[in-house]
Amino acid sequence: MRFIVHGGKVLKGEIEVKGSKNAATKMMIVSLLTDEECVLENFPSIGDTDITKELCEHIGATVSFAHGVARLHTPTIKSHQVTQLTRRNRIPILALGPLLSRVGKAAVPVLGGDKIGARPVDIHLDGLQQLGAEITHDDTFFYASAPNGLKGATITLRYPSVGATENLILASVLAKGRTVIHNAAVEPEIMDIILLLQKMGAIIGLGSDRTIYIEGVEKLHGARHRILPDRNEAVSFACLGLAFPGNEVKVKNAVQKDLITFLNAVRKIGGEYRIEEDGITFYRKNGLVASEVETDTHPGFMTDWQQPFLILLTQAVGTSVIHETVYEDRFGYTEELNAMGANIAVFSKCLGELPCRYTGQAHPHSAIIAGPTPLRGIDTLKVRDLRAGMAHLIGALVAEGESVIEGIEEIDRGYEDLDARLKALGADITRID
Ligand code: EPU
Repeated sequence: MRFIVHGGKVLKGEIEVKGSKNAATKMMIVSLLTDEECVLENFPSIGDTDITKELCEHIGATVSFAHGVARLHTPTIKSHQVTQLTRRNRIPILALGPLLSRVGKAAVPVLGGDKIGARPVDIHLDGLQQLGAEITHDDTFFYASAPNGLKGATITLRYPSVGATENLILASVLAKGRTVIHNAAVEPEIMDIILLLQKMGAIIGLGSDRTIYIEGVEKLHGARHRILPDRNEAVSFACLGLAFPGNEVKVKNAVQKDLITFLNAVRKIGGEYRIEEDGITFYRKNGLVASEVETDTHPGFMTDWQQPFLILLTQAVGTSVIHETVYEDRFGYTEELNAMGANIAVFSKCLGELPCRYTGQAHPHSAIIAGPTPLRGIDTLKVRDLRAGMAHLIGALVAEGESVIEGIEEIDRGYEDLDARLKALGADITRID
């Protein structure tokens, strides 16, 4: 499938942010921890929740979505082995904890790297082993068992991985005794997952300095929870509001406290925003100016924000720098932007001051953007990954002329009904099946 976009149109109006993809998919896995029903409101109907539905159903859940509400119920675990799904995402590894807790064994597919990096799961596996899981693998599966049940442990993550933190929380809520996770990730989506688990009967405390404390309980029960709004959607739409001087986009349901670092970056490049009761409106009066940004774990500037923000930097006067410290290879999409007229050079040296795991290695993780450069549409945009695809789409909406974006299934994984919502802002975008 592809989008045909005629760029350069003024974008004005209101666009509503849906529930967070990266919380919804994990909460579906959380529901596997109980034999009672869980109800998730503000639930996004996107490719990634469809893939996770398939996974949960295979394990034994009954899953239904309607009108933004998902109901999941897993009275018994029918299969502890997650087969290779017809389409993939990175969620199956998180099923290890619930399966080990409920049936003492689990097998999930090995996913390997993708277009943004190697994406190992060593931190997940180390932590689970410290909780008492025995784990082996072959080329296609990780096999885990906990014949004597999982037991609480004190675990220090070597990097605050979002997925590993979630995996260890899910594995320890029903483990025997107390688990302490030091150097944990504390993203808002993780906090929202903790809120759901607390409603389900879990005991989870937050210490200072990225520490999470979990007291294992015997059983969890069903709960109802409203998923937090998607920060990544909010930022993508905010960048549309900031793309041209005449644009003005109200991002309904955008939450200021989850976007503090982004809002600071917007102000530094000369963008404007108004915080309202039910959202944030983005616009600009003048030209944008160059800036520097380093991606980091929360509360830093999120790695999934660098792609839409980079499009703004191509329109800013001066030389901007982005230092990507979370993924080693997340600038591939700049090649196509250069073909559209941008002037972006990517380097393996760290161009920033944050501690970075890629120092001294040959990973292309720093970008210099010279602006402003008018962009022109091209017909050879191919979606590499979800956020890169969104950057190409924003680039195409900013560019003069027609662009063709191929492989938009990847964008559909994370954004519900995107073309219809963008059309309502005045975008000229057509989906071709
Ligand atoms: N890492 C390891 N070992 C591990 C786990 C992670 O070295 O065991 C490394 C990764 O290779 C990466 C870094 O740590 O370089 C961060 O990975 P993390 O585990 O924090 O990310 P994730 O859980 O795989 C989630 C989101 C990503 C988002 C990151 C960072 C989901 C499904 N994915 O990934 O979102 O970029 O956190 O915030 O929640 C997206 O939505 O398009 C997306 C990629």
